[in-house]
Amino acid sequence: MRKTTNVRLLGALVAFVAVGASCSAQAGDSDPQAFTQIERGRYLAVTSDCVSCHTVPDSNQPFAGGRAIETPFGNIFAPNITPDPETGIGAWSDDEFDAAVRKGIGRTGSPLYPAMPYNAFTKMSRTDVQAIRAYLNTVTPVHNPRAATALPFPFNIRAAMRVWNALYFKEGEYTPDPQKSSEWNRGAFLVDGPAHCGACHTPKSLLGGDKLNQYLQGSYLQGWSAPDITNSTRLGLGRWAVDDIAAFLKTGHNRVSAATGPMAEAVKLSTSQMTDADVRAIATYLKSLPGVEDDVKPLPQDNPAMAAGAAIYRDQCSACHALDGRGVAKLFPSIADSSMVRSADPTTAIRIVLRGARSVATASEPTAPGMPSYGRQLGDGQVAAVLTYMRNMWGGAAPAVAAKDVTRVRSETASRPD
Ligand code: HEC
Ligand code: HEC
Ligand code: HEC
Repeated sequence: MRKTTNVRLLGALVAFVAVGASCSAQAGDSDPQAFTQIERGRYLAVTSDCVSCHTVPDSNQPFAGGRAIETPFGNIFAPNITPDPETGIGAWSDDEFDAAVRKGIGRTGSPLYPAMPYNAFTKMSRTDVQAIRAYLNTVTPVHNPRAATALPFPFNIRAAMRVWNALYFKEGEYTPDPQKSSEWNRGAFLVDGPAHCGACHTPKSLLGGDKLNQYLQGSYLQGWSAPDITNSTRLGLGRWAVDDIAAFLKTGHNRVSAATGPMAEAVKLSTSQMTDADVRAIATYLKSLPGVEDDVKPLPQDNPAMAAGAAIYRDQCSACHALDGRGVAKLFPSIADSSMVRSADPTTAIRIVLRGARSVATASEPTAPGMPSYGRQLGDGQVAAVLTYMRNMWGGAAPAVAAKDVTRVRSETASRPD
């Protein structure tokens, strides 16, 4: 399975390639590796989800690298970070490891691609990152040479990343806001730091940097859209309580929604293994983000797409999602409260209707009901109509989905695994 990330660069970067000085790594200093440090590092590695990118799914070789991280320019392979001295990080000094994780500098001094979320990990302290290292030292070493990343010109020129860093990378540890509670500060640190939620949820500029004025307002990934997770009522988590968010992160579903695709993976490997206090801290922080409040009016019921959508919804969807859109608690999500369904970018909703969805099983909720696929049964215009209807009912308001959007998602996802 490929993993998607949102990295966009401009060809113009090539003009700046020569900029920047090379950085050299210093000799290692080793910390005493007490059990507590290893355990702390394990937990930080979980909250950072290092295993997801650095493992080929189902390979049984955690952290051995080789997974292709998909970008619009081609695949970037995440390398082996097991303690194998030859092909992993066994022979790296602590400084080299710190520079890679918190500054995006590779062992030879050349920059890493921001597909490795060092712009978020920089919020961790050196002590945090050394704890992760201490934990990684305890995993089974695997001999697995690095797969060559071969992006097309000019993206193959790593030095160009120095320009990216100059524009978008703000190095530095998280500084708590003394006006806010310690729970809020913990949430902010997790969201912006180790858990790197913005990597998928903050829209990107053409150069792949975060659009900070649209912080966590939703972004397009390769074949998925990640919705707005601010407290915006129309687009974001405004209708979710802190408990709803915490349950979603801990179990993969709640009364409103179920995690699918890249979010299912983030839940399974990372947020479901966080402590209850940490998922609540994240929820508390997200609920404090105002987000967009606007006054978009729903499409009128006599709009032709609304009328067609209503009929399809009644016949095909209401058995599970209910006529009032509220679903059935613990079984079928409440479309009426789903911000994902109303996202400005409807990619994920279209994809789910076309291909169905099976949400994640987590320790606390081991089985998950599935959403059937309608890709064969419904044509592009019908899928567009039923989603247009769902987006504009039950207090929702969002632009109509066009048949051509469905055609696009159909072709974009045709060759991808579920
Ligand atoms: C979203 C995917 C992703 C996550 C999450 C991630 N990495 Fe990476 N990492 C990458 C990619 C891709 C590269 C290769 C970048 C390149 O080739 O420039 C990389 C490179 C590295 C490197 C440099 C290795 C080398 O041989 O050059 C280290 C060290 C590393 N990651 C450690 C970590 C640690 C520790 C974590 C968790 C704290 C982590 N990564 C989380 C994608 C990820
Ligand atoms: C690898 C990309 C990725 C990362 C990292 C990620 N998300 Fe998501 N997220 C998505 C996608 C794609 C969706 C839409 C699919 C779905 O609803 O499951 C989503 C959906 C969600 C939803 C459901 C919103 C709704 O209205 O249905 C919430 C809440 C959420 N993410 C919170 C978070 C938080 C908090 C973090 C960080 C701890 C995070 N996500 C990290 C990709 C990601
Ligand atoms: C057999 C029951 C069933 C039927 C019929 C059904 N769904 Fe679903 N639907 C589900 C389940 C279960 C989920 C949660 C899936 C998951 O695990 O991600 C879901 C999720 C969804 C979602 C994602 C909502 C969110 O916020 O996560 C959308 C959109 C959706 N369905 C649309 C439809 C449409 C449109 C129809 C009719 C054409 C339909 N569904 C028919 C069971 C059903």
